[in-house]
Amino acid sequence: LRLAVLASGRGSNLQAILDAVSSGTLDATVAGVFSDKPDALALQRARDAGLHAEALRARGFASRDAFDAAFFARVDSVAPDLVVCAGYMRIIGAAAARALAGRTLNIHPSLLPDFRGLHTHRQALDAGVAEHGASVHFVTAELDGGPVIAQARVPVLPGDDEDTLAARVLEREHPLLVASLRLFAAGRVALHEDRVHIDGRAL
Ligand code: GRF
Repeated sequence: LRLAVLASGRGSNLQAILDAVSSGTLDATVAGVFSDKPDALALQRARDAGLHAEALRARGFASRDAFDAAFFARVDSVAPDLVVCAGYMRIIGAAAARALAGRTLNIHPSLLPDFRGLHTHRQALDAGVAEHGASVHFVTAELDGGPVIAQARVPVLPGDDEDTLAARVLEREHPLLVASLRLFAAGRVALHEDRVHIDGRAL
């Protein structure tokens, strides 16, 4: 399984993938790491691992679609089987999302369909939910709205703030993302008619 990983920041989810590949837990190759932020720590992690890493800034492009066309041309140049958005913080426009359909995942720090978009931990605290978590889903044109492949749940505890809750969720994101990628590497997951199928059965 050839992966292209997209990341805008810290890259701890990328690191979890790299660690799983190097330990042999995940039968995959990271063909390249791509960012919209030239100073993303994720790019440094990729370079430290000897991987192809590059950034393209959105500034200067006339439209979202124009940026996406240039950015995903770079991503596709490494011929990925699967594109993994691991903390890629730019909205992907509808045209690019259509071209990526069925071969692109995102990890989102909430129990989708709850709390799409930004500041999910704050949203969860404000809503007063007892449980929060993370989701891995297929990317579609609808922001954080594509079919869910797998989720991890954590409790919201008394006294939690955004940071404590984010840390509890992040700790579960890493194994959740690796487990989801293992399903792909084993050919066990697919998107058919907008539904996730695992081992040939619709979720
Ligand atoms: C993660 O919480 C991810 O779910 C969210 O942004 C964060 C990225 O963390 N979309 P990292 O860059 O992987 O450390």
